[in-house]
Amino acid sequence: MDFLVLFLFYLASVLMGLVLICICSKTHCSKGLVKGGAQIFSYIIPECLQRAMHRLLHYLFHTRNHSFIVLHLVLQGMVYTEYTWELFGYCQELEFSLYYLLLPYLLLIVNLFSFILTCVTNPGIITKANELLFLHVYEFDEVMFLKNVRCSTCDLRKPARSKHCSVCNWCVHRFDHHCVWVNNCIGAWNIRYFLIYLLTLTASAATVAIVSTAFLVHLVVMSDLYQETYIDDFGRLHIMDTVFLIQYLFLTFPRIVFMLGFVVVLSFLLGGYLCFAVYLAATNQTTNEWHRGDRAWCWRCPLVAWCPSAEPQIHQNIHSHGLWSNLQEIFLPAFPYHERKKQE
Ligand SMILES: *[C@@H]1O[C@H](CO)[C@@H](O)[C@H](O)[C@H]1NC(C)=O
Ligand SMILES: [Zn+2]
Ligand SMILES: [Zn+2]
Repeated sequence: MDFLVLFLFYLASVLMGLVLICICSKTHCSKGLVKGGAQIFSYIIPECLQRAMHRLLHYLFHTRNHSFIVLHLVLQGMVYTEYTWELFGYCQELEFSLYYLLLPYLLLIVNLFSFILTCVTNPGIITKANELLFLHVYEFDEVMFLKNVRCSTCDLRKPARSKHCSVCNWCVHRFDHHCVWVNNCIGAWNIRYFLIYLLTLTASAATVAIVSTAFLVHLVVMSDLYQETYIDDFGRLHIMDTVFLIQYLFLTFPRIVFMLGFVVVLSFLLGGYLCFAVYLAATNQTTNEWHRGDRAWCWRCPLVAWCPSAEPQIHQNIHSHGLWSNLQEIFLPAFPYHERKKQE
């Protein structure tokens, strides 16, 4: 029994660690979190240590740095090493289909490719040279984005849907959020790569989870493990139960079971975030706009035509161009520089 508690504890700590990193990577949320945490820990932890921690958090989340890229690649490398060295061989012995086993590698290639593109692509940085052109891409709604507002840091006029990124210290066109995992802003010009990156990362975590589960289930079924009996510490005979089975599998394949726990939690977290990102893309919203959460943005939902509680005036809104044009805007973003050139 104590083994199961330990295992659940492991799962819970992986989950909590990942959730914490996700929350902290959103700059605005981390402020409240750090403040709340600091209040609790100020009684326990000495001041010099607190200051060091504060400096570390500031470095990690409020300056451009490669730490999360390295962490990302290390974790991905570990999962794929384990997959290649142990699981792949075992599954081949069990005569799993090779196509099925190679799928994670295909996803890895696409994932790494889109990862690099997300990291290095200009997200749509606003400069003196392109400021005027960006101003014409979106209309000002005068609710969230007002005309004639200047960025206090860059001293450039703010185009509609843009935002100043405090980490990178520049204004970005159609700003979505700053992502520490790619050490770059997500904006008009790289959000398509970001979505592909997110999709393939979720899919590769899910396929590795499915292959490992299939392997363990196959093994249990093949060897009739659940029909076995075992003798406990007090010398009593027991029929195999689930807890003992998990314990047995963990002791026989510790790395595979550990990895399975990690990728299962990861698949759910990434899957949830992917749904959110796709929902935003389909409704022509950015995370920034969603976060500022004005009610006026509710009409962007593509289901609004069938929504009984939606008000009729909603349909007249000029911004609602439908699902396909919203996705088109993500995958074929406006490059005002070329467009303007053609017109002139
Ligand atoms: C998305 O919304 C903006 C207004 O914020 C609008 O100018 C643009 O045309 C919309 N795009 C689509 C494809 O609906
Ligand atoms: Zn700015
Ligand atoms: Zn940024």
